Amino acid sequence: MSEAPSRCDLIFRGATVFDGSGAEPVTADVAVENRRIAAIGDLGGSGAVVEIDAAGQALAPGFIDVHTHDDRYLLAQPDVPAKASQGVTTVVVGNCGISVAPLTRPGLPPPPFDLLADRPEFCFASAGDYFKRLDEQPAALNSLTLIGHSVLRYNCMDDLDRPATDAEIGAMRDLMADAMDAGAIGMSSGLFYPPAKAARTEEVMGAAEALTAGDGIYTAHIRNEADGIVDSIEEAAAIGRHADVQVVISHHKCMGTANYGRTRETLPLLDRLAGEQRIGLDVYPYIAGSTVLLPEMVEMAEKTLITWSKPRPDCAGRDLAEVAAELGLSPLEAAAELQPAGAVYFTMDEADVRRIIAYPRSMIGSDGLPSDNHPHPRLWGTFPRVLGHYARELGVLTMADAVHRMTGLPATEFGLGDRGFIRPGYHADLVLFDPGSVRDRSTFEAPTRPAAGIALVLVNGEAVWRDGASTGARPGRAIRRQETARGR
Ligand code: ZN
Ligand code: CU
Repeated sequence: MSEAPSRCDLIFRGATVFDGSGAEPVTADVAVENRRIAAIGDLGGSGAVVEIDAAGQALAPGFIDVHTHDDRYLLAQPDVPAKASQGVTTVVVGNCGISVAPLTRPGLPPPPFDLLADRPEFCFASAGDYFKRLDEQPAALNSLTLIGHSVLRYNCMDDLDRPATDAEIGAMRDLMADAMDAGAIGMSSGLFYPPAKAARTEEVMGAAEALTAGDGIYTAHIRNEADGIVDSIEEAAAIGRHADVQVVISHHKCMGTANYGRTRETLPLLDRLAGEQRIGLDVYPYIAGSTVLLPEMVEMAEKTLITWSKPRPDCAGRDLAEVAAELGLSPLEAAAELQPAGAVYFTMDEADVRRIIAYPRSMIGSDGLPSDNHPHPRLWGTFPRVLGHYARELGVLTMADAVHRMTGLPATEFGLGDRGFIRPGYHADLVLFDPGSVRDRSTFEAPTRPAAGIALVLVNGEAVWRDGASTGARPGRAIRRQETARGR
């Protein structure tokens, strides 16, 4: 319990408070004053401008989506409805090796960059320019910014199909150091993707050296999430050790039927590595992934659904096998006809997904693709799906633990400082939801239906989502590394 001012901005009365630590909830009042949490406890002696009867409702720290591709979405749709509707209050942008800054060379990097932007005017010459734009045109949600290694490569190399020279690695390091000074939280890589495939481990290590001084974070869409899963996790870990930085294995999974069940190897491996270095992971709650349309993914997947296609927009939402039959082509030939395009791939085992969600150090990240015509349902459903389906319905983890994996845990891993917990003095990023009915409503057929059970979402003390709609408020901050625990 703590002292509340006699009259504050807002009080939630009698909420079931999940404080973000993973502890079981307590019934309490929570007061908000001047954009921060002022007090928690029995605040019967205090009044507020706005009083909310929260009896029977859960109050939690706003969810932190640690794995997003919302770089441009924050500017293009500043209400960020796909995320605000889930109770998300902070997004980490720039994952999987791609970010909208810095772009110093004319033209655009090759796919999967088109997941983010298909025109140069959506890109920024420096991370500083990107931050400036977010300050001038704030979004509803807070953001943290990673810089993509594949984009660094594109800036510094004339040919992406070979390893970088020492001089080119030095140039990437300098660009990354600039971005760190401007406020980037770290670097992501996507060694799985064609523009970065030719990069040697030493190249990423060299670029990651720019993270060391500012204690940046390194997130990795690893080289191979199928047969090469173990070696690829080891490679990302080695890059982290080289630069002495925290590693996050992105959207952990074991792809392809031959690799089903291999979380029995990878999770003990992550335990062992965590004994030696700072390493974590994120996961989304689905057995299908999504990215650009790639032949090797079509070959691996049990089923492929088209999410967008430039020449055939009418194919978005359709099964590739069906389109292929209609065209009288093989699935791979049909895929070639649809390019450039994106797809959802069913490549995972449900038991692995559950094992990763149950694993205590897994953070939740959506990996949603907001530009897709018919996106993977994770874009609108990830957080309520973990709370409703995996916690309440299946009991894979407790509700308190589920909240922890989307609040206190990511805030701690990313060194966010005073967010991610309900504590006096912390920023008032809060979500009020019904623990008995919260659930995802987005499906592979209807992927953009907002979740059920999310009553109210506050970012820095201001309501951004209420009763099923955006409020139009834009209180989000483009958080710089220097303001976080990493910058102190
Ligand atoms: Zn990825
Ligand atoms: Cu991603």
